[in-house]
Amino acid sequence: MMYSEKVMDHFANPRNVGEIENADGVGEVGNAKCGDIMRMYLKIDDGVLTDVKFKTFGCGAAVATSSMATELIKGKSIEDALKLTNKAVVEALDGLPPVKVHCSVLAEQAVKAALSDYYRRRGIDPEPIVGKIEDCDACHI
Ligand code: FES
Repeated sequence: MMYSEKVMDHFANPRNVGEIENADGVGEVGNAKCGDIMRMYLKIDDGVLTDVKFKTFGCGAAVATSSMATELIKGKSIEDALKLTNKAVVEALDGLPPVKVHCSVLAEQAVKAALSDYYRRRGIDPEPIVGKIEDCDACHI
């Protein structure tokens, strides 16, 4: 399996790893099949994501994609962060092997789950934007 240099870099030196105390939004998504879990923490001031941190218990591609996702949304507005797609994350990493693309979906969903939590806490929208990834055919673990 071939990984791009960027994927290897973000796997070896993931950015924004950790937790945010008193985060304004926390999102956790999991893949039931492979058991990978991703948790995303957001600090939001005046509609801007001033800090983003994550913890991923999962495969290397899950670590790399969540790392890249945090870089792509940090400093952005909520509106821009909501537009983050797994495709954009994969592109920013110079691609992923096809069997690993689903790992980037986890990153997109973790961001959206955290934003969803932010809205829920503020009483804006009680409905979560995303649920859990229950099934992933690409995970053969
Ligand atoms: Fe990477 Fe399932 S999320 S193997």
